[in-house]
Amino acid sequence: MEPFLKWAGGKRWLISNPNNIFPDETKIKQYIEPFLGGAAVFFHIQPSNGHLSDINEDLINAYIIVRDKWEDLIEILRKYEIQHCKEFYYQMRSNNPRSPLQKAARFIYLNRTCWNGLYRVNSKGEFNVPIGTKTKVILDADDFLGLSSLLAGMNIEACDFEKTIDKANDGRGVYSELAIKCW
Ligand SMILES: C[S@@+](CC[C@H](N)C(=O)[O-])C[C@H]1O[C@@H](n2cnc3c(N)ncnc32)[C@H](O)[C@@H]1O
Repeated sequence: MEPFLKWAGGKRWLISNPNNIFPDETKIKQYIEPFLGGAAVFFHIQPSNGHLSDINEDLINAYIIVRDKWEDLIEILRKYEIQHCKEFYYQMRSNNPRSPLQKAARFIYLNRTCWNGLYRVNSKGEFNVPIGTKTKVILDADDFLGLSSLLAGMNIEACDFEKTIDKANDGRGVYSELAIKCW
Protein backbone atom coordinates (compact mmCIF):
# COMPACT_ATOMS: atom_id res chain seq x y z
CA MET A 1 0.00 0.00 0.00
CA GLU A 2 1.39 3.40 -1.05
CA PRO A 3 1.01 6.78 0.71
CA PHE A 4 -1.85 8.73 -0.87
CA LEU A 5 -0.11 12.08 -0.24
CA LYS A 6 3.15 13.46 -1.51
CA TRP A 7 4.92 14.80 1.58
CA ALA A 8 8.25 16.55 2.08
CA GLY A 9 10.62 14.37 4.05
CA GLY A 10 8.53 11.27 3.29
CA LYS A 11 10.20 7.96 4.10
CA ARG A 12 9.47 6.01 0.91
CA TRP A 13 13.24 5.80 0.40
CA LEU A 14 13.66 4.17 3.80
CA ILE A 15 11.13 1.41 3.25
CA SER A 16 12.42 0.66 -0.25
CA ASN A 17 15.70 -0.53 1.28
CA PRO A 18 15.52 -4.36 1.48
CA ASN A 19 17.68 -4.23 4.64
CA ASN A 20 15.13 -2.08 6.40
CA ILE A 21 15.06 -2.14 10.15
CA PHE A 22 11.35 -2.44 10.76
CA PRO A 23 9.95 -5.35 12.73
CA ASP A 24 7.35 -7.72 11.41
CA GLU A 25 3.77 -6.49 11.98
CA THR A 26 3.02 -9.57 14.11
CA LYS A 27 5.72 -8.53 16.59
CA ILE A 28 4.28 -5.06 17.17
CA LYS A 29 1.92 -4.75 20.13
CA GLN A 30 0.82 -1.26 19.23
CA TYR A 31 2.12 0.99 16.48
CA ILE A 32 2.65 4.64 17.44
CA GLU A 33 3.72 7.25 14.90
CA PRO A 34 4.04 10.84 16.19
CA PHE A 35 5.23 12.54 12.96
CA LEU A 36 2.81 10.98 10.50
CA GLY A 37 3.32 13.09 7.34
CA GLY A 38 2.82 10.84 4.30
CA ALA A 39 2.84 7.74 6.56
CA ALA A 40 5.18 5.71 4.32
CA VAL A 41 6.33 3.50 7.20
CA PHE A 42 2.78 2.92 8.45
CA PHE A 43 1.63 1.83 4.98
CA HIS A 44 4.64 -0.45 4.69
CA ILE A 45 4.21 -2.19 8.04
CA GLN A 46 0.39 -2.17 7.96
CA PRO A 47 -0.18 -2.59 11.70
CA SER A 48 -3.69 -3.51 12.79
CA ASN A 49 -3.97 -1.06 15.66
CA GLY A 50 -2.22 1.92 17.14
CA HIS A 51 -1.97 5.66 17.26
CA LEU A 52 -1.12 8.05 14.41
CA SER A 53 -0.57 11.75 14.96
CA ASP A 54 0.90 14.89 13.51
CA ILE A 55 0.71 18.54 14.51
CA ASN A 56 -0.79 19.48 11.12
CA GLU A 57 -4.57 19.54 11.67
CA ASP A 58 -5.46 19.60 7.96
CA LEU A 59 -3.26 16.59 7.32
CA ILE A 60 -4.79 14.62 10.20
CA ASN A 61 -8.31 15.59 9.10
CA ALA A 62 -7.54 14.10 5.65
CA TYR A 63 -6.56 10.75 7.23
CA ILE A 64 -9.72 10.71 9.36
CA ILE A 65 -11.92 11.40 6.33
CA VAL A 66 -10.13 8.74 4.24
CA ARG A 67 -10.80 6.30 7.10
CA ASP A 68 -14.43 7.26 7.75
CA LYS A 69 -15.89 8.83 4.58
CA TRP A 70 -13.77 7.69 1.67
CA GLU A 71 -16.74 7.14 -0.67
CA ASP A 72 -17.99 10.72 -0.26
CA LEU A 73 -14.42 11.94 -0.59
CA ILE A 74 -13.72 10.18 -3.89
CA GLU A 75 -16.96 11.52 -5.35
CA ILE A 76 -15.79 15.09 -4.66
CA LEU A 77 -12.28 14.38 -5.97
CA ARG A 78 -13.76 13.05 -9.22
CA LYS A 79 -15.60 16.36 -9.68
CA TYR A 80 -12.41 18.30 -8.93
CA GLU A 81 -10.53 16.29 -11.53
CA ILE A 82 -13.03 17.36 -14.19
CA GLN A 83 -12.90 20.99 -13.06
CA HIS A 84 -9.11 21.20 -12.64
CA CYS A 85 -7.45 24.11 -14.42
CA LYS A 86 -5.35 27.08 -13.32
CA GLU A 87 -8.34 29.22 -12.40
CA PHE A 88 -10.00 26.41 -10.43
CA TYR A 89 -6.75 25.68 -8.55
CA TYR A 90 -6.37 29.26 -7.33
CA GLN A 91 -10.05 29.46 -6.45
CA MET A 92 -9.69 26.26 -4.37
CA ARG A 93 -6.50 27.57 -2.81
CA SER A 94 -8.28 30.68 -1.55
CA ASN A 95 -11.32 28.72 -0.27
CA ASN A 96 -11.64 27.91 3.42
CA PRO A 97 -14.35 25.23 3.68
CA ARG A 98 -15.81 24.47 7.10
CA SER A 99 -16.88 20.85 6.81
CA PRO A 100 -14.19 18.25 7.54
CA LEU A 101 -15.15 16.39 4.33
CA GLN A 102 -14.75 19.47 2.12
CA LYS A 103 -11.55 20.39 3.95
CA ALA A 104 -10.08 16.94 3.26
CA ALA A 105 -11.09 17.02 -0.43
CA ARG A 106 -9.47 20.45 -0.82
CA PHE A 107 -6.33 19.28 1.01
CA ILE A 108 -5.88 16.21 -1.20
CA TYR A 109 -6.72 18.16 -4.37
CA LEU A 110 -4.11 20.83 -3.56
CA ASN A 111 -1.52 18.22 -2.53
CA ARG A 112 -1.87 16.47 -5.88
CA THR A 113 -1.93 19.53 -8.12
CA CYS A 114 0.32 22.05 -6.34
CA TRP A 115 4.00 22.58 -7.01
CA ASN A 116 5.86 19.39 -6.07
CA GLY A 117 3.31 18.34 -3.42
CA LEU A 118 4.71 21.03 -1.17
CA TYR A 119 2.81 22.10 1.96
CA ARG A 120 3.48 25.71 2.94
CA VAL A 121 1.30 28.29 4.66
CA ASN A 122 1.83 32.02 5.23
CA SER A 123 1.79 33.79 8.61
CA LYS A 124 -2.04 33.79 8.50
CA GLY A 125 -2.07 30.02 8.00
CA GLU A 126 -3.14 30.33 4.35
CA PHE A 127 -1.83 27.72 1.91
CA ASN A 128 0.32 29.59 -0.61
CA VAL A 129 1.98 27.04 -2.90
CA PRO A 130 1.58 27.76 -6.64
CA ILE A 131 0.03 25.36 -9.11
CA GLY A 132 2.28 22.50 -10.24
CA THR A 133 2.62 20.48 -13.41
CA LYS A 134 0.60 17.40 -12.33
CA THR A 135 -3.05 17.41 -13.38
CA LYS A 136 -4.38 14.09 -12.07
CA VAL A 137 -6.54 14.32 -8.97
CA ILE A 138 -7.51 10.63 -8.98
CA LEU A 139 -4.41 8.45 -9.38
CA ASP A 140 -4.20 4.96 -10.92
CA ALA A 141 -2.74 3.67 -7.65
CA ASP A 142 -5.60 5.03 -5.53
CA ASP A 143 -7.27 2.43 -3.34
CA PHE A 144 -9.34 4.39 -0.85
CA LEU A 145 -11.23 1.31 0.29
CA GLY A 146 -7.90 -0.37 1.11
CA LEU A 147 -6.62 2.76 2.86
CA SER A 148 -9.80 3.02 4.88
CA SER A 149 -9.58 -0.64 5.98
CA LEU A 150 -5.97 -0.16 6.98
CA LEU A 151 -6.75 2.97 8.97
CA ALA A 152 -9.83 1.42 10.60
CA GLY A 153 -7.97 0.17 13.66
CA MET A 154 -6.02 3.36 14.19
CA ASN A 155 -6.62 6.18 16.62
CA ILE A 156 -5.79 9.34 14.62
CA GLU A 157 -5.18 12.65 16.37
CA ALA A 158 -3.78 16.12 15.64
CA CYS A 159 -1.36 16.87 18.47
CA ASP A 160 2.22 17.57 19.42
CA PHE A 161 4.61 14.60 19.31
CA GLU A 162 5.24 14.75 23.07
CA LYS A 163 1.65 13.83 23.83
CA THR A 164 1.89 10.84 21.50
CA ILE A 165 5.26 9.67 22.76
CA ASP A 166 3.85 9.65 26.31
CA LYS A 167 1.54 6.86 25.16
CA ALA A 168 4.60 4.70 24.45
CA ASN A 169 6.15 4.73 27.91
CA ASP A 170 5.21 1.12 28.56
CA GLY A 171 7.56 -0.21 25.91
CA ARG A 172 5.17 -0.29 22.96
CA GLY A 173 6.75 0.29 19.55
CA VAL A 174 7.22 3.81 18.24
CA TYR A 175 8.35 4.81 14.79
CA SER A 176 9.76 8.28 15.11
CA GLU A 177 12.20 10.27 13.08
CA LEU A 178 13.78 11.26 16.39
CA ALA A 179 14.29 7.61 17.24
CA ILE A 180 15.70 6.84 13.82
CA LYS A 181 18.26 9.61 14.34
CA CYS A 182 19.21 8.26 17.76
CA TRP A 183 19.84 4.64 16.74
C1 LIG B 1 9.26 14.71 7.55
S1 LIG B 1 7.56 14.73 7.92
C2 LIG B 1 7.18 13.08 8.34
C3 LIG B 1 7.36 12.16 7.22
C4 LIG B 1 6.67 10.85 7.38
N1 LIG B 1 7.31 10.00 8.38
C5 LIG B 1 6.54 10.19 6.02
O1 LIG B 1 7.04 9.07 5.82
O2 LIG B 1 5.96 10.80 5.14
C6 LIG B 1 7.56 15.47 9.49
C7 LIG B 1 6.17 15.68 10.05
O3 LIG B 1 6.29 16.11 11.39
C8 LIG B 1 5.23 16.99 11.66
N2 LIG B 1 5.60 17.78 12.84
C9 LIG B 1 6.42 18.85 12.91
N3 LIG B 1 6.51 19.30 14.18
C10 LIG B 1 5.74 18.47 14.93
C11 LIG B 1 5.42 18.39 16.32
N4 LIG B 1 5.93 19.28 17.20
N5 LIG B 1 4.59 17.42 16.74
C12 LIG B 1 4.06 16.54 15.87
N6 LIG B 1 4.31 16.56 14.53
C13 LIG B 1 5.14 17.51 14.07
C14 LIG B 1 5.04 17.79 10.39
O4 LIG B 1 3.74 18.33 10.30
C15 LIG B 1 5.35 16.74 9.32
O5 LIG B 1 4.18 16.16 8.80
